[in-house]
Amino acid sequence: MIIAIDGPSASGKGTLGRALAHKLGYHYLDTGALYRMVGLSVQRRGLDPTDQESAAAIAASLDPSSFQDSELRGEGVGSYASKIAALPKVRAALLKLQRDFAQKKPGTVLDGRDIGTVVCPDADFKFFVTASVEARAGRRLREHPTSDLAAITADIKARDERDSNRAVAPLKPAEDSILIDNSELTPDEALQAVLGAIELY
Ligand code: CDP
Repeated sequence: MIIAIDGPSASGKGTLGRALAHKLGYHYLDTGALYRMVGLSVQRRGLDPTDQESAAAIAASLDPSSFQDSELRGEGVGSYASKIAALPKVRAALLKLQRDFAQKKPGTVLDGRDIGTVVCPDADFKFFVTASVEARAGRRLREHPTSDLAAITADIKARDERDSNRAVAPLKPAEDSILIDNSELTPDEALQAVLGAIELY
């Protein structure tokens, strides 16, 4: 069983994916963390985030166990991540790792931008999770209380734009995905909506 969850930045797909995997006893992969690892490595080495060959080499030899979650969630890392995520060779280098993970038993939940469209087009269930820019910016501000709402809103809009308009694996709902707008939902209500949809089939 493979469950794909895609959606824009700060839409709550990570919270939902983690809760869903926990509830079902499945393995969970936050694929954004992989792009963040590459982005952070590029940033730390002072490399140009449009230098495809260097970023792809980093992606090909990635050791996920050498990163801490707190450093990956740091401000600025998301922006680097979305820049290197537009490079086709970086995406190709991360594809096998994601597909291998998806095959774990008894089932998996993967969240990202292109899980239902590219990584696991045959997933059993595909959800596209979204929320208004205002709701997403408010959530980010609660995660980073010292930052500024206007700057967060601008970052979210810039990432939406970059993620949706890139040539390779752009952010868009798979045709057979179920749309969940959680602007007005609590995390538990969003989880119940997804569990309800899974049970209907
Ligand atoms: O947590 P947040 O939604 O802000 O971002 P993330 O899921 O950690 O992803 C960071 C960046 O990685 C995104 O802006 C995307 O550009 C990229 N990404 C991607 O291209 N494909 C994925 N499957 C996951 C993330």
